[in-house]
Amino acid sequence: MADLSVNIGELQMKNPVMTASGTFGYGEEFADFIDISRIGGIIVKGTTLHKREGNPYPRMAETPAGMLNAVGLQNKGVHYFVEHIYPRIKDIKTNMIVNVSGSAIEDYMETAAIINELVNIPAIELNISCPNVKQGGMAFGVTAKGAEEVVKAVRSVYKKTLIVKLSPNVTDITEIARAAENGGADSVSLINTLLGMAVDAERRRPVLSTVTGGMSGAAVKPIALRMVWQVAKAVKIPVIGLGGIMNWKDAVEFMLAGASAVQIGTANFIDPAITVKVAEGIDDYLDRHGYKSVKEIIGALEV
Ligand SMILES: Cc1cc2nc3c(=O)[nH]c(=O)nc-3n(C[C@H](O)[C@H](O)[C@H](O)COP(=O)(O)O)c2cc1C
Repeated sequence: MADLSVNIGELQMKNPVMTASGTFGYGEEFADFIDISRIGGIIVKGTTLHKREGNPYPRMAETPAGMLNAVGLQNKGVHYFVEHIYPRIKDIKTNMIVNVSGSAIEDYMETAAIINELVNIPAIELNISCPNVKQGGMAFGVTAKGAEEVVKAVRSVYKKTLIVKLSPNVTDITEIARAAENGGADSVSLINTLLGMAVDAERRRPVLSTVTGGMSGAAVKPIALRMVWQVAKAVKIPVIGLGGIMNWKDAVEFMLAGASAVQIGTANFIDPAITVKVAEGIDDYLDRHGYKSVKEIIGALEV
């Protein structure tokens, strides 16, 4: 058995496999299917300062080798999280990480400051793919200036490991990754969903209530892999890779391309035990190739 442990900032993980936000609830929902303490880290649902109802239905659509979603960050807000959810999940024996979203810089700061006080939450993941409501609704994460500004602001109030999750809906993702690094991020994770759309020809209507939505699943993997490879070369902080990882082989590919850890999203809907299977598959791969530690394969791609 190889050493599967990796570090992201001050976060110590028993293995490099995490769950992606919005696809694994608060972790506890999966406890009947797998021993969730065997997962390296669980990123919980997107959490905002105030309660959000999410978008009207329909907000999911299946696509060839993937799916579109427009859930719209439905959650009960950070205060509810602190009072009702944190007490239930705080003793789960893995890294419980909160994904933080917002529609203004002040929202991100306030939410992050509240979560900073929770002893058993060692990190947050900042979702900067959210529209900046105060500045015309363009997402924070699509300009280097917007990204750096929000990361800097959160860095000033958040003292633990700060992961910044990048949007792939940009011209040059390396520029945004560098902005996050300059703002004080300890790590970047990528990719969030790609903007897509589905049409119902018979009804002459869009399938999703919001017309467009976020594309994820196997179909996005080559794009995510390319972006992880580019970003890993552009920044010094560790990169967390995700987007279309369906099995251990995909995970190994992301790590060879430069990811220090991976996240699994849509695949959880197909197989709730996929995270543990991926960790086992990585272990087998390391043994077969004579590696002592998973760290040896990070960025080991020969180009
Ligand atoms: C139903 C659903 C809900 C999601 N909710 C969030 C969210 O709240 N915050 C976030 O940063 N990403 C969210 N995502 C994006 C995923 O975390 C992930 O970045 C994306 O799905 C790509 O990974 P995958 O192909 O493995 O699913 C969501 C994805 C799906 C499918």
